[in-house]
Amino acid sequence: MPLVSLHQVHKRYPTGTEALSGVSFSIEPGEFVFLSGPSGAGKSTLLRLLLHMEIATKGDVLLFGRNLAALSRSSVPYLRRNIGAIFQDFRLLPDRTVFENVAVGLHILGLSRKEIKQRVTNTLYDLSIDRYAQAFPSMLSGGEQQRVAIARALVMHPALILADEPTGNLDWELSNDIVRLFDDLNAKGTTVIMATHDRFLLNAFPRRTLLLNKGFLIEDFQPSQTNDDETEEGVDEEPKEVPPIIQPLDMTAALRNLHTPPPLPKQQKIAGIDGEEVSS
Ligand SMILES: Nc1ncnc2c1ncn2[C@@H]1O[C@H](COP(=O)(O)OP(=O)(O)OP(=O)(O)O)[C@@H](O)[C@H]1O
Ligand SMILES: [Mg+2]
Repeated sequence: MPLVSLHQVHKRYPTGTEALSGVSFSIEPGEFVFLSGPSGAGKSTLLRLLLHMEIATKGDVLLFGRNLAALSRSSVPYLRRNIGAIFQDFRLLPDRTVFENVAVGLHILGLSRKEIKQRVTNTLYDLSIDRYAQAFPSMLSGGEQQRVAIARALVMHPALILADEPTGNLDWELSNDIVRLFDDLNAKGTTVIMATHDRFLLNAFPRRTLLLNKGFLIEDFQPSQTNDDETEEGVDEEPKEVPPIIQPLDMTAALRNLHTPPPLPKQQKIAGIDGEEVSS
């Protein structure tokens, strides 16, 4: 059963903007999928539909096998508990420390103080922001705040990571580190959907890529070839020169020769949205 599937989904905002038009695709458990496309293409809208923060105007959005249109309001928090959401605008609590921002979801889960401390400390360490544990978000740079937002999502050990431009404020090296971290989690079975328009990352980490443009899904590119010269993933040095915007079809061509197959989907227990354990 797919973890995510959209069938002919349209999203029109009250302003009249058609943000998504007839979008259909499925994502299996254990996949790592990039969502790409230029500004205004509909990437954030699509992620907000999956989080049930926006409702599709037409079509069906299914998550963990549930049609979101039929989901009761009381089930929404249970659904979100399985998702690590990283927002483009961070959404940190300004009056809480970094530690408290990251711990907030674990308190809701009712974990012990000891377990919360351990999980938060480990996650802050993984993201190289452990030294800011007692700082407030306003004391941090944009990139540091972004890593706090990522830590807050990862600390929940979610079945699905929905990341909206999680590397938007990070330099090249940190961006690579974040995607490698997602890769490690993906290898352990976590499904990752990451919106990015960073072509360097798309080239360095060849993964299935859904390409949106003006609300239309114009490419669903699944890398299938392995190029022996390109097995080392990520690039240590920042690209020296920013190339011009690659048009969608050029990007696909650029991606085509670089790929390793994605890891095999793994079976994973999903905390059921009605409280039961559901095997996906
Ligand atoms: N709340 C909203 N109300 C009205 N229009 C919106 C709203 N949110 C987004 N839009 C419009 O919908 C379209 C898609 O926006 P969206 O934020 O999904 O694009 P995006 O691909 O995430 O862009 P970016 O790369 O700049 O983040 C844009 O034309 C945008 O102006
Ligand atoms: Mg966006």
